[in-house]
Amino acid sequence: MDSRRNFIKKTAIVSAGLAMTPKLSFGMGNSKQKLKIGMIGVGYRGINHLNNVLNRDDVIVTAICDTDPKRIEISLDAIAKKGGKKPKVFSKDEYDYRNLLELKNVDAVIIATPWLWHTRMAKDAMKAGKYTGLEVSAANTMEECWDLVNVHEETGTHLMILENVNYRRDVMAVLNMVKQNVFGELVHFRCGYQHDLRFVKFNDGKTGYGKGVEFGDKGTSEAAWRTQHSLLRNADVYPTHGAGPIAAMCDINRGNRFTSLTSTATKGIGLHDYIQKTGGKDHPNAKLKFKQGDVITSTIETANGESIIVTHDCNLPRPYSLGFRVQGSNGLWEVDGNRMYIEGISDPHRWDDASNWLKKYDHPLWQKYGEHAQGAGHGGMDWFVINSFVESAKLNIAPPMDAYDAAAWSAITPLSELSIENNGEPQDFPDFTRGNWIKRAPYNWMKDTY
Ligand SMILES: NC(=O)c1ccc[n+]([C@@H]2O[C@H](COP(=O)([O-])OP(=O)(O)OC[C@H]3O[C@@H](n4cnc5c(N)ncnc54)[C@H](O)[C@@H]3O)[C@@H](O)[C@H]2O)c1
Repeated sequence: MDSRRNFIKKTAIVSAGLAMTPKLSFGMGNSKQKLKIGMIGVGYRGINHLNNVLNRDDVIVTAICDTDPKRIEISLDAIAKKGGKKPKVFSKDEYDYRNLLELKNVDAVIIATPWLWHTRMAKDAMKAGKYTGLEVSAANTMEECWDLVNVHEETGTHLMILENVNYRRDVMAVLNMVKQNVFGELVHFRCGYQHDLRFVKFNDGKTGYGKGVEFGDKGTSEAAWRTQHSLLRNADVYPTHGAGPIAAMCDINRGNRFTSLTSTATKGIGLHDYIQKTGGKDHPNAKLKFKQGDVITSTIETANGESIIVTHDCNLPRPYSLGFRVQGSNGLWEVDGNRMYIEGISDPHRWDDASNWLKKYDHPLWQKYGEHAQGAGHGGMDWFVINSFVESAKLNIAPPMDAYDAAAWSAITPLSELSIENNGEPQDFPDFTRGNWIKRAPYNWMKDTY
């Protein structure tokens, strides 16, 4: 996957490319049937979602909301360029999104705001009866995890966590292999978020990524809000890019569940070091002590006896990798090194290049839409997650990744924090399904529709 820096550089090219791509037809020519979407938060991520929905012929964007007038302007421009009707705009203050939620001509919302707004906005959206798409991570505290589940159950409104990595091409091919039992009985997984975010956590207040060592009020985009979590929390604050795909493979909340977790954290020196090197020893931020350990390692146990090691590693220089490993009684896949070993097929004790395996088990969705999705962002997976959201919302059915998943995956954050605080003491996961995980059927991931 591209680094974020490259991703942003490419966004302009991609947007231009998408403008020329013919719209995919979803057989919903009748405008009455179009899904009416409200966008809440049109920052760097929200704009990407906006471009992907604008490229569909079964959706209309009827409202947008952001507190930053510049982001509103960019969004209106994008909508106008695609020939869309001007949507209603909400940008008065931080709670203006509630006025958007009152609109009758909004069926569904996509929330891509800073983390501390996620649960509050998702709860309000579900209460307003809007099919809710929520960016990752969904919740920050255990109370918020429960809030998502409780409000979903009280209102009957669906919530989808918009975890795009579940739709990555290699991840979906490996999911296909899991479902076809190529790995045998599953035993162990590794995953995580291993991404040098120093250039995201700090900037000069003008450019999103890459310049300066400011954050908070003096920063822009993610530096304005994300860095504060590193300053004050020693926790895996971004677990779902790794945990989401693995949870789908081992049917978490559907016949299996996360039961407990232990976490350890290294010292945290990376961000301090970056500030000193980039901004100088005398920069006021060089005095700060960041609470977050540079490498946080959590081990999750599941009801079915698997273990999952989840790594959060975002403050040190390193190339990007989500570090996936999927291992069962017949063999394993490791993303690092792009290697596969399946007993009886691979040469004994020797790795296969994974590429041929991934090609052979290419997921039906990628076979069908891969070419179209390529330009949509993050190697194409962003198209699939929005496709899944839109198709589920049109039918008003439970999404592939629901409120229980959002809660269980996001719960890694508060549980890792507690475990680290208590010398790696095991922490139990709540059962967000209230016992129903034993009878919920595994989600049918193996289809070519969404
Ligand atoms: N899935 C992915 O690959 C991926 C990638 C990047 C970001 N994200 C997630 O997307 C979310 C947004 O990230 P981003 O990079 O776009 O950040 P960003 O800071 O660029 O955008 C956030 C936007 O929300 C707006 N906002 C803040 N408070 C608001 C409020 N009360 N009402 C309306 N608008 C408000 C801000 O003005 C800003 O434009 C985060 O949760 C992040 O973790 C996910």
